[in-house]
Amino acid sequence: MEGIFVTFEGPDGSGKTTQLKMLAERLHSKGYDVVVTREPGGTPISDEVRRILLSPDNEEMIDQTEVLLYAAARAQHVHEKIIPALEQKRIVLCDRYIDASVAYQAYGLGLDLQTVLAISQFASGGLQPVRTYMLDVPVEVSRQRLLDRSSGGSGPMLDRIELKGNEYHARVRKGFLAVAESNRERIRLIQADRPLQEIADEIAEDFEKLIHPDSKVRV
Ligand code: TYD
Repeated sequence: MEGIFVTFEGPDGSGKTTQLKMLAERLHSKGYDVVVTREPGGTPISDEVRRILLSPDNEEMIDQTEVLLYAAARAQHVHEKIIPALEQKRIVLCDRYIDASVAYQAYGLGLDLQTVLAISQFASGGLQPVRTYMLDVPVEVSRQRLLDRSSGGSGPMLDRIELKGNEYHARVRKGFLAVAESNRERIRLIQADRPLQEIADEIAEDFEKLIHPDSKVRV
């Protein structure tokens, strides 16, 4: 497998999806073969699981069900889509992955961290990204962005996870920061309360080193 697997992480409203798209466009325009995908989702089966996970109707979902469904969606996604793309030496940019389960299910819900990691390991077969861009913003900023998006009528309504309270989302952010702290080699922690283009340039510059460690080629 010689493709490049990169993930984007961060709280809801941190701007990770926008940054992922900006990097993908930059790479496309330079002729790179890029696969853009997301979790939960990325394949028809995983998208069905996503609908169950995020539907605000499923308020009675218990925590164990939640962690297992995220893992089920991930297993299908990794084996049906990500690994085959990497085998074709493609660049895979994935919106969320295992770090999200650690932040949302272990730190957010309070499920045992080692159990969440073991379930994710089983689902993913141990596949890890070579680089993760983790976007961080204060909880008040990310929550306000989400509320603006949904109340303005321009964006989607809040999903089941986004509807959880501020304390939950503060724990999630803490989780992301802890994950970044213990994976300094893989994770680039990015202050995301800044102009979009500035963040995009920082990410592109790092990505460039990842694909051309020894050259001056610009992406
Ligand atoms: P996301 O696709 O980022 O939502 P949006 O479409 O609004 O940008 O992710 C959906 C939600 O799922 C998000 O609130 C984070 C949550 N999530 C987990 O709780 N655990 C996980 O393992 C993953 C991948 C996502």
